[in-house]
Amino acid sequence: MAYETILVERLERVGLIRLNRPQALNALNRQLIADLGAALDELEQDRSIGCLVLTGSEKAFAAGADIKEMQNFTYPQTYLDDFITSWERLSRTRKPVIAAVAGFALGGGCELAMMCDFILAADTAKFGQPEIKLGVMPGSGGTQRLTRFVGKSKAMEMCLTGRLMDAVEAERSGLVSRIVPAADLLDEALKVAKGIAGMSLPVAMQTKESVNRAYETTLAEGIRFERRVFQSQFGTADQKEGMAAFIEKRPAKFQH
Ligand code: HXC
Repeated sequence: MAYETILVERLERVGLIRLNRPQALNALNRQLIADLGAALDELEQDRSIGCLVLTGSEKAFAAGADIKEMQNFTYPQTYLDDFITSWERLSRTRKPVIAAVAGFALGGGCELAMMCDFILAADTAKFGQPEIKLGVMPGSGGTQRLTRFVGKSKAMEMCLTGRLMDAVEAERSGLVSRIVPAADLLDEALKVAKGIAGMSLPVAMQTKESVNRAYETTLAEGIRFERRVFQSQFGTADQKEGMAAFIEKRPAKFQH
């Protein structure tokens, strides 16, 4: 399906979504969020897709929510339209999603990247929550997710001052998993995604669900959840295949 503000490609078992509003540094307007939601629905329903990559351009992953669109919003309108709730679609994605970030990931752009399962950063990446300079604060999870990623002190400083963080600081503080040279970012993200897409899809999805439990429950409950899911995996053909392949010294070929 063709979209107005994003480009979607299927590269074997990887679904690639590129944010594509270059004239506005991929500012996130309502159309883009709707397009992104529809593309996620489409790729989640497609059984041949095992992993997603979300990326922007060389200059910007996304420079935030569209300020020109938001400027004249009123409180009743944002409340009645439930502004922002539709952004959460990305965080409800069950298949693994990698954010490949080059250039600016600011405000809602940083929040979108943090809704993905991990962030690969180009050495040009710059992250920030500069909303306070616009007279608002992060509204799509930034105060919560950034704090969980980098801890209170750094999250508080970034949200209160609007200071940007470069890729080195972002890696040091746990916001991104790795830094790669900008020219290699997409190839590297696609390579990692292809590797994940070659695993058992239900197991990859259960792994994602289990890691995410660590943020949403107590340690004892999280461990209990992990153990039950782990035990259930012995009822799958993919576990039999994965372990047989190891013993027979050949690559595993998973069914799902
Ligand atoms: C609308 C934007 C935009 C944005 C950039 N543009 N960011 N339009 N919303 N968030 C537009 C500019 O107006 C300009 O359009 C074009 O993109 C190029 O941007 P420049 O500013 O000329 O580029 P540059 O000088 O390189 O500066 C890059 C920048 C700067 C540092 C990223 O654009 C910037 O500070 N942008 C805003 C960042 C921000 O405050 N983000 C948070 C938004 S609030 P024209 O037409 O002039 O050429 C938010 C709330 C989230 O995200 C809460 C949940 C929704």
